[in-house]
Amino acid sequence: MKKLLGLLCLCVIAFHSFSQSKDGGIAIIPEPVTLTKKAGEYVLPKRVIIVSNTQPEMQQVINLLRERLSIPTGAKVTVLNSSQIAAVRLILNKKTDTLLGKEGYRLAVTKKGIFIRANGPAGLFYGAQTLVQLFPKEIVSAARVRNIRWVSPCVAITDYPRFKWRGLMFDVARHFFTKAEVEAYIDNMAKYKLNLLHMHLTDDEGWRIEIKSLPRLTTVGAYNVKKVGYFGSFSPPEANEPRDYGGFYTQDDIREIVKYAKERFVDILPEIDVPGHSLAAVVAYPELSCTPGADQYHTRSGEHFMDFTKNGIKAGIDNTLCPANEKVYEFLDKVLTEVAGLFPFGYIHMGGDECAKNFWEQSDAIKALMQKEGLKTQQEVQSYFEKRVEKIVESKGKKFMGWDEILEGGLGPDATVMSWRGMKGGIEAAKMGHEVVMSPTTFAYLDYMQADPVIEPRVYATLRLNKTYEFEPAPDSVDSKLIIGGQANLWTEQVYNVRHLEYMTWPRAFAISEAVWSPKSRRNFDDFFSRVEKHFDRFNIAEIKYAPSVYDPVFTAKSMPDSTVQVELATEVRGLDIHYSFDNSFPDQFYPKYTEPLIVPKDAAMLKVITYRGDKPVGRMICMPVDELKKRAAHKRNFD
Ligand code: ACM
Repeated sequence: MKKLLGLLCLCVIAFHSFSQSKDGGIAIIPEPVTLTKKAGEYVLPKRVIIVSNTQPEMQQVINLLRERLSIPTGAKVTVLNSSQIAAVRLILNKKTDTLLGKEGYRLAVTKKGIFIRANGPAGLFYGAQTLVQLFPKEIVSAARVRNIRWVSPCVAITDYPRFKWRGLMFDVARHFFTKAEVEAYIDNMAKYKLNLLHMHLTDDEGWRIEIKSLPRLTTVGAYNVKKVGYFGSFSPPEANEPRDYGGFYTQDDIREIVKYAKERFVDILPEIDVPGHSLAAVVAYPELSCTPGADQYHTRSGEHFMDFTKNGIKAGIDNTLCPANEKVYEFLDKVLTEVAGLFPFGYIHMGGDECAKNFWEQSDAIKALMQKEGLKTQQEVQSYFEKRVEKIVESKGKKFMGWDEILEGGLGPDATVMSWRGMKGGIEAAKMGHEVVMSPTTFAYLDYMQADPVIEPRVYATLRLNKTYEFEPAPDSVDSKLIIGGQANLWTEQVYNVRHLEYMTWPRAFAISEAVWSPKSRRNFDDFFSRVEKHFDRFNIAEIKYAPSVYDPVFTAKSMPDSTVQVELATEVRGLDIHYSFDNSFPDQFYPKYTEPLIVPKDAAMLKVITYRGDKPVGRMICMPVDELKKRAAHKRNFD
């Protein structure tokens, strides 16, 4: 009896913790809440009938299925209100299924047909996205693919999100990206059930949204000088270099982006970053700074002008709005009237990060404001500013949100905090009763490098896929109801084009989607990565770029007591072999395999490494100069 009970328990556990990776065919990202594999498969017929009501908000679910089930397969798709036979039935629950909420769904793939049930169209849309992931990878093709068996395994899935805010931030200010490029980004995020696009619309490099009452923001503020190289160290533009690089979204563009996103169940959060990061606004309207007329202001073209020191941030050029100037609040009122009218989403993000105070410190107007308002520090000056801006935002019927710097000097009672300098600010804000979105550099900064700087385009820091996968938006120490979600941020200082935008986003955004959608208890990196590889195959077919950095080894250099340098190599994922050479030739699988720390030979100049899975190279050929290893060993600075 005991044995029987044990067996029964095991079966129950197996039923609930079905691991996708154990079944070669199924690789859903983000991991659903429950997935039960059933016997058999559903074969897509040549004539696909979708049964659905055709109310307008169902149209996007129907469009998604119509496109994916016809273009690659060649099947003819018909949508009917009712039919005895159907390939897919989209069913809106008459009685609310409380487990599912607004965005959850139940998907049943049977040998006879496919059923997606949800309380609303968003749930059906996500069910349809999951269904697409159950068909062969060629289903993502933009063209007809022949000789494929268009089958899905039979499954029963119940799925709903862990957080309502599942975001990506796209910085369209540092480098401008077109409306079509933003829309393509939305398409990809929606496939992974991400529902919030945060558009960072303004910064020192450019103002990207047309404000009709303030035309100079975009006639002057939307352009800089095109430079390439390492951002922050570009040569300052010469007077004769054309300021014609950049662009902006007209209000019609914005309306179209918002509509496009809404049709994919994605909300758009606009960010107007003030009072720092405001050079483009100051260029257009210098009277908004505390230093009007002190400089010939130009939008930034990547030249060095900010110093981040232990004692604070210093700007070489005044890129701030002046909290002591009433014109600033009139300006923001105009901006926010138009922004609030364009974006239906309930929140407006007002930045607040990295505001240099060195020009404020010198300003008589700020000194007078401090005296009048009893403000003791520059943080309190910023806090005064934020509280006034919060009132303007709220006067437009929106909720005010800012980066975690808005906590400094005190914040308004209804402010929502986006925690980026780690989780600390978010925890502090939640403990004070504020709503929080977690987007910490430590787990969620997609502008960071994904592997060693010797191979990655160089940026400030490294954030590997396995670390991103550890992102836990709701720390135990706070009331989880106040953590409304999480998001990853992609700053684009070093992102010049869409292919690189995709490279920086994927696969880390897969990890983010799982952090914000899937149950915490179901997360497992090895299982996740086996699914990521299946999605790499899909991306290859869909011609979307992703970073293969996860296959590249991690280098750790150490100085040894006898003055030699030791190198440890490790891999981020299991099951890879690292082959290496010190003789300048290119290693392959016939070269020595790394098994233990290496001592760099006395006169060696280069360590070359490449990772293999069996006889297939999966990593990139990495050429690591021995001088670089020596430097890292001496400074105890490694990039893991
Ligand atoms: C930020 O990364 N400056 C919010």
